[in-house]
Amino acid sequence: MKDLLPLIFITLATSFNNKNNFRASTPSNNMNSDDSMSSNNNMFANGMPSTNNMSSNGMPSTNNMSSNGMPSTNNMSSNGMPSTNDMSSNNFAASTGPFRLPPLGYAYNALEPYIDEATMKVHHTGHHQTYVDKLNEALSKYPQLYNVSLETLLNNIDRLPSDIREAVRNNGGGHYNHSFFWKVMTPNRGTAPNSSLRAAIDRDFGSFENFRNEFKQTALNTFGSGWTWLLKDDSGKLQIVSTPNQNTPVPLGLVPIIAIDLWEHAYYLKHQNRRNNYIDDWFNVVNWDYANQSYNA
Ligand SMILES: [Fe+2]
Repeated sequence: MKDLLPLIFITLATSFNNKNNFRASTPSNNMNSDDSMSSNNNMFANGMPSTNNMSSNGMPSTNNMSSNGMPSTNNMSSNGMPSTNDMSSNNFAASTGPFRLPPLGYAYNALEPYIDEATMKVHHTGHHQTYVDKLNEALSKYPQLYNVSLETLLNNIDRLPSDIREAVRNNGGGHYNHSFFWKVMTPNRGTAPNSSLRAAIDRDFGSFENFRNEFKQTALNTFGSGWTWLLKDDSGKLQIVSTPNQNTPVPLGLVPIIAIDLWEHAYYLKHQNRRNNYIDDWFNVVNWDYANQSYNA
């Protein structure tokens, strides 16, 4: 336990200063981000948090976390995505621990004909659920970490107990990445980068066509399993980055705008080995409305 206290203190400090809008795991059903900051500051004022007084200091309780495990962001409801109430009413299989499988937000067949129903169903209820279950299983060895957000865990992998480090990297990363992935796809046709995001794309890539080509080429060149991201830095500058396996952009301190899952489980049933066709199809379901919110946050 003594070994974990510095981790909790340091990782909380990192979390408080994290300007990343995406809170893949804000483990609260009731707090908005402002509430979270407020209670976090209280913790600092009270000194080193102990696992016993974290709840009384205003940190989310384990019960709150269990009821959600997904972003409580205002973005979600204003973006037409599921609210936390919608989430809590879902009946997905519950594993013991702080994190839960978020709902998809649309029907499994809603992205047809570009992304097929069978793939979406097994991807969400199979692969993503497994990441959540294994993340919870790993954390069950150290329940004092239940109060630490997913972003904070992922940003401090090397400070985690060695016996859960890889499990949190892989399964916490899988949970973070997929939670984001469901939100950057939509059955709504015709979404597009708004003026500010489009201007940034034109500035940093020359044109939207150039951006799309570069994004696609980066995804095609990503060896094996991984993800390709459009990320924003603090100045608003955009860059395309691939991460291997279930690694996330969290340690980079950059804001995700869009991301494509390049694991074969994301496309093999429909596209087999044709990653090229999958990427083209996927561009038809990108949720630029959500991307706009992420860029402008
Ligand atoms: Fe996936």
